[in-house]
Amino acid sequence: MNDLQTVVDDARAAFELATTPADLENTKAQYLGKSGRITEMMKGMATLPVEQKKTRGAAINLAKQAIEAALNARRLALADAELQAQLQAEALDVSLPGRQRGQGGLHPVSLTLERIEAIFGSMGFEVAQGPEIESDWFNFTALNTPEDHPARSMHDTFYVEGGTETAPNLLRTHTSPMQIRHAVQHVKRHRRQVEGNATAEGLFAGVMPEIRVIAPGRTYRVDSDATHSPMFHQCEGLWVGENVSFKDLKFVFTDFCRSFFESNDLVLRFRPSFFPFTEPSAEIDIQFSSGPLAGNWLEVAGSGQVHPNVIRNMGLDPERYIGFAFGMGPDRLTMLRYGVNDLRLFFDGDIRFLSQFR
Ligand code: PHE
Repeated sequence: MNDLQTVVDDARAAFELATTPADLENTKAQYLGKSGRITEMMKGMATLPVEQKKTRGAAINLAKQAIEAALNARRLALADAELQAQLQAEALDVSLPGRQRGQGGLHPVSLTLERIEAIFGSMGFEVAQGPEIESDWFNFTALNTPEDHPARSMHDTFYVEGGTETAPNLLRTHTSPMQIRHAVQHVKRHRRQVEGNATAEGLFAGVMPEIRVIAPGRTYRVDSDATHSPMFHQCEGLWVGENVSFKDLKFVFTDFCRSFFESNDLVLRFRPSFFPFTEPSAEIDIQFSSGPLAGNWLEVAGSGQVHPNVIRNMGLDPERYIGFAFGMGPDRLTMLRYGVNDLRLFFDGDIRFLSQFR
């Protein structure tokens, strides 16, 4: 029996020396494995007489159980030690104050676009969106600016590969292509409604509802300094009907400026200008009579009566339909409203600047 006690003692001591679970499993093999000491003893019984086999077998089994118990105890101890070490390493101080998530806010130009949409929305204007990669046709030709027209040189932009006259090939230089895109859709929609409803006599009687839309969005030109960015924003406005005049443009735009700047202390000036797609054309300047900008004429938009060729490209008869368009710069409006003097601040992504508009 002495030899058995020795094996159990040896095993216990060896298990204590194992410091990792892998170590321990290796040590276990030396006692309980295929050629471990206990297994060898079992094999050794083969030569014993039957009576001795019984007692010897029972004794070996007891030793084996003692070793297995020691092994399990050590396994638990090692697992526990490992857990303790992990907890130590990942210690959390739950009494520390929590980290706060900074409060976000809309970009100042987004705030301006929201204001523009709300104000024109209240005057019955729809809001339309269109592609930033445009075709030559929508950006220039349909707007009465054929190839080789000198006005194109003021709109130097970024071209993409593989475009054709009608397939997208350039980054739009203004939101004016939306005049054509939206009007064509509008006319189509109306035609379908009239044709699909033969008894619509009284409803439409062949009279198309007016086109009244704004189209805000990103635009691009090869330009970069304190007041020009290669990417900037524009918002197009278009009102076409059978009886829409420059007088309506003046009324609508004055109303818009007064709402936007929250001031009745401003006047508008229409300064003669030229755009291929409007005739006559005018720059719209505003002047405040009080406040930090008082007395200066500030240019805020290009505008004009939609050119007959453009009306025709919308799918309408210029003898019957007439209207006005304008294009303003939301970036510039934002600068004026908040007194910002460098356009680049809007696109630097500096939180210290942006967080002031929350
Ligand atoms: N698209 C013109 C520009 O970018 C502005 C404009 C729009 C002028 C609509 C007249 C009518 O300069």
